[in-house]
Amino acid sequence: MRRPNLARTLRALDRARAEFGSAKVALVPTMGALHAGHLALVRRARQRAERVIVSIFVNPTQFAPHEDLASYPRTFAEDLAALAREGVDLVWAPSAEVMYPDGFATRIAPEGAAKAGLEDAFRPHFFGGVATVVAKLFLQCRPDFALFGEKDFQQLKVVTRLARDLDLRLRIIGVPTVRERDGLALSSRNAYLGEAERAVAPVLYGTLKQCAQSVAAGSSVAKALAHGRKAITAAGFVLDYLEARNAETLAPLNKHGDEPIRLLVAARLGRTRLIDNVGV
Ligand code: PAF
Repeated sequence: MRRPNLARTLRALDRARAEFGSAKVALVPTMGALHAGHLALVRRARQRAERVIVSIFVNPTQFAPHEDLASYPRTFAEDLAALAREGVDLVWAPSAEVMYPDGFATRIAPEGAAKAGLEDAFRPHFFGGVATVVAKLFLQCRPDFALFGEKDFQQLKVVTRLARDLDLRLRIIGVPTVRERDGLALSSRNAYLGEAERAVAPVLYGTLKQCAQSVAAGSSVAKALAHGRKAITAAGFVLDYLEARNAETLAPLNKHGDEPIRLLVAARLGRTRLIDNVGV
């Protein structure tokens, strides 16, 4: 097992990146606290490219002051060991000072899917922070491919558009959500769940699946969502949204009902906010 090269400064990153020469490079951007979902991204990256970079950076600009930046799980030593087992070539782990040096004053303001009225309605600062750091990661690492989980479905749409709009010349690849046996989508934030909350958490995916089945079987979308909202609230969640959207644009559904549909949910259990989504 070879430990991946670890770069903490731009100079070290440039040196390590130059050693890749003309090899195809894939980047897996993460905030660490790696789980099997991240490792699925890494494995897909290895299938796509000859060299794999994983970035680990808990990005302060995508957290609002009242959110969990300080308590976000940090497991750097375990993350490095897992990435070594996966044969990752390079870990890019800048400090906040390297990513946002004194005087930093630029922020990307994404529109389109970033203004769909889903995550953005509850975390208005979020996609600006994500778009800015992801654009920086792409420019720093210069990958041919970058891989993102479908669990953060709106984020996947936003970074896909960002890469196109800014001519960043890489291909964004979405990777299906990895789930626990009971259906709960893997997330670093699942670590916040208490025992009783963990037992309830799979209701979210169960309800999404039921809604998707009802819609596929011809039930009205509005009816299926109304049932779903009731079930999620009855299980003890505080629901932020359960919505059906165009799977490509995330726009509200048109009247003809002839488009690919994605069901998306966000809900809070105690202090833990969970998101998930499924296709119909
Ligand atoms: O999905 C995440 O972990 C983060 O939002 C990302 C893409 C690494 C940007 O900080």
